[in-house]
Amino acid sequence: MCGIVGYIGDEQCYQILIKGLHRLEYRGYDSAGVALIDSNNNINLYKSHGKVAALEKFCESKDVTGTIGIAHTRWATHGEPNDVNAHPHMSQDSNIAIVHNGTIENYKVLKQALIEHGCEFRSETDTEVLVQLIEYIKNSNKCSLLSAVREALNEVIGAYAIAVIDKNTPNTIIAARKSSPLVIGIGENATYLASDATPIIDYTNKVVYLNDDEIAIIKKDEPLSVIKSNNEPSNIDIQTLKLSVSQLEKGGYPHFMLKEIFEQPNTLRDCIRGRVVNDQIQLSGVMDNKERFMNAKRIIIVACGTSWHAGLIGKRLLIDYARIPVEVEYASEFRYSNPVINPDDIVIAISQSGETADTLAAIQIAKEKGAFVYGVCNVVGSSIARATDSGTYIHVGPEIGVASTKAFTGQVTVLTMLAIAIGQLRGTVDDQTVAKIAQSIRQMPELITEALKLNKEIERLSYTFTYAHNFLYLGRGYNFPSALEGALKLKEISYIHAEGYPAAEMKHGPIALIDHELPTVFIAPSDELHEKIISNIQQVKARGGAVIAVITKGDQEIANLANFILEIPEVPECLSPILVSIPLQLLAYHIAVKKGCNVDMPRNLAKSVTVE
Ligand code: F6R
Repeated sequence: MCGIVGYIGDEQCYQILIKGLHRLEYRGYDSAGVALIDSNNNINLYKSHGKVAALEKFCESKDVTGTIGIAHTRWATHGEPNDVNAHPHMSQDSNIAIVHNGTIENYKVLKQALIEHGCEFRSETDTEVLVQLIEYIKNSNKCSLLSAVREALNEVIGAYAIAVIDKNTPNTIIAARKSSPLVIGIGENATYLASDATPIIDYTNKVVYLNDDEIAIIKKDEPLSVIKSNNEPSNIDIQTLKLSVSQLEKGGYPHFMLKEIFEQPNTLRDCIRGRVVNDQIQLSGVMDNKERFMNAKRIIIVACGTSWHAGLIGKRLLIDYARIPVEVEYASEFRYSNPVINPDDIVIAISQSGETADTLAAIQIAKEKGAFVYGVCNVVGSSIARATDSGTYIHVGPEIGVASTKAFTGQVTVLTMLAIAIGQLRGTVDDQTVAKIAQSIRQMPELITEALKLNKEIERLSYTFTYAHNFLYLGRGYNFPSALEGALKLKEISYIHAEGYPAAEMKHGPIALIDHELPTVFIAPSDELHEKIISNIQQVKARGGAVIAVITKGDQEIANLANFILEIPEVPECLSPILVSIPLQLLAYHIAVKKGCNVDMPRNLAKSVTVE
């Protein structure tokens, strides 16, 4: 989490930095700050708790001139989100300023040592320890800023993406990364840096993704140079971005979340393009690694949050169509679980951002133990995309709303294609089934368009439920993970407590909660377990509970039972999680909006979880 922006060039950069911070606000919005080197080589530092807009207000009457600057939007890890703990942080003599994304794990030991050498600290952050250490090394060794940064980073344990400026080296920004992303944009007479490419795309499409343990030396009017932390030179691989500015704007929608929900017919088209051909599924990641997939004895899926829910659906798909045993693990648990991994295991890592720290750590463990790691990511060039052996991008475009929507449907679509592609290879799925699913995948964009027509109806319905303090979401089979995902969407953006459960498990405990104040959302499309879920609905109704049911169009039996129905088109069972997610996303969205919540930036959350 946290977003970093930097600029060095000919232009006044305050507005460039602020615009960049707005683009990165999805990464954290507890506080924001900017440090600019003015024409007298002084560093002007401004910071404010709250969102970037609060920083802008604070800076209205300030001197914000300067053609070199760094800026930050924070998701607090060390110390509460106040002005003092906001970044940038300054060294003791106010010569050096730093912005940092990540966590310095050994900061307490380093801080104690620096205090013993006379350093005084202003904030509670780990980041201030790093800038004090840089200054201490620079002064004690009488060395350059670059050497001091390099030496300091060699003392540090943890994750970081940093940008450092020094009033005594005014035409330079030193940037470095380890386990937290950093992208450098090469413009004309200007260099940009940021946590992802979104603040850069307005100015240039030429970018360099910094690798772990690399340090970039960004100087005005000089070409970029990059070294490794052991001082050896690094290769600079300039890539061309395929992102467009319009993808980063709301396009007339009141929120990014609603825009992203409505984008899903198109994002699914992009996701399946070139992959569903003549009733066959073709995934290059599978074709390039035939032997691995043919011989796989087990698949372990690692992911977090919504991506983990997609993983649970992936498990069912892989078991049904590829006939391989599958386990699904929270990446955060997997990394500390001393897992038994064999060389013929395949680990599938699912991540929208491609930067989730726990998922990255799980990948590292799997690789150390010799597994083949396959990524299902959205962000092209992200750390997870680069750390995996092979993979499939979901290609749904930038997801900016903090609550994941189009990435979820993209992930489930890719996992469906993956399961079928592996099944084709292993001969565990017949041609007729492949053709039927391929045709249905091709129809998904139209079916989603149909499901989106529920929007107005759900908006009206949402008024009824803004009062609720709790919600229960129940589903079975393929749609038990849909229940978990529906509940997560509601709780994270509306702050209404919601639980997802397998419908049949209800009688083992949650049924005690049912009364007229607890709405239950049943995800009940017509499938194998349809009769069973009807009896679960009856059990809730018998106890006075209100039922909202997501059903297949024309299902009169449930329509007669439920208080509210949301009808979706008919679709094969294995694809139903994609379609049911549309009304669930809309329900969460409208309830949250009615409650006056900030749906794009829910409290305490950040889009990209780059810390443990
Ligand atoms: C929920 C949500 C989070 C993410 C989770 C993993 O709406 O967005 O639960 O799914 O933080 O993030 P990625 O997929 O980027 O690894």
